[in-house]
Amino acid sequence: MTIKVKDLQFEPFISHHSIEARVIELANRLTVDFHGKNPLFLSVLNGSFMFTSDLMKAFLSPCEISFIKLASYQGTESTGQVQTLIGLNNSIENRDVIIIEDIVDTGNTVKKILELVKDHKPASIQILTLLFKPEAFKEDFEIDYVGFEIENKFVVGYGLDYDGYGRNLDQIYVVV
Ligand code: IMP
Repeated sequence: MTIKVKDLQFEPFISHHSIEARVIELANRLTVDFHGKNPLFLSVLNGSFMFTSDLMKAFLSPCEISFIKLASYQGTESTGQVQTLIGLNNSIENRDVIIIEDIVDTGNTVKKILELVKDHKPASIQILTLLFKPEAFKEDFEIDYVGFEIENKFVVGYGLDYDGYGRNLDQIYVVV
């Protein structure tokens, strides 16, 4: 059944059941890979909140969480400073950090986050994303964990939005 979010029509794409199953698989892999490491989940707001919550509940070893958000362009700075980081309160020095994204599209956002995180001298950084659009990806860094590779189409639901709406949908929809 198609749904409408603002002015666009979307159709079901990845069911809640498939998401749930994949999240468990990812969490199980993390539980093995980060055994005894007390990782710090670094969840990228806003889109990753639902995914991070489910992933963390299925991760079966000690861990901590922190949130980051890249603010909108400031625009008035003559220095060309365009983005601001909100969060990153926990000390991440010497921590094993797992960046949690909802979707990696061009890779631009994760690239900026990587630069910021590296400045804080973590022990290691891994990137985990629920969705990945390989056709749109323009960067050269590795993505360590991918939930689903998808084609280059706009999706909403399970935390992802279209102009602020659609985040509450419990499955992922694709634009028609
Ligand atoms: P990137 O910097 O191009 O990788 O884009 C990443 C950000 O763009 C994500 O964190 C989302 O906020 C947004 N985005 C990219 N593709 C989609 C989509 O299909 N649906 C919703 N948001 C998207």
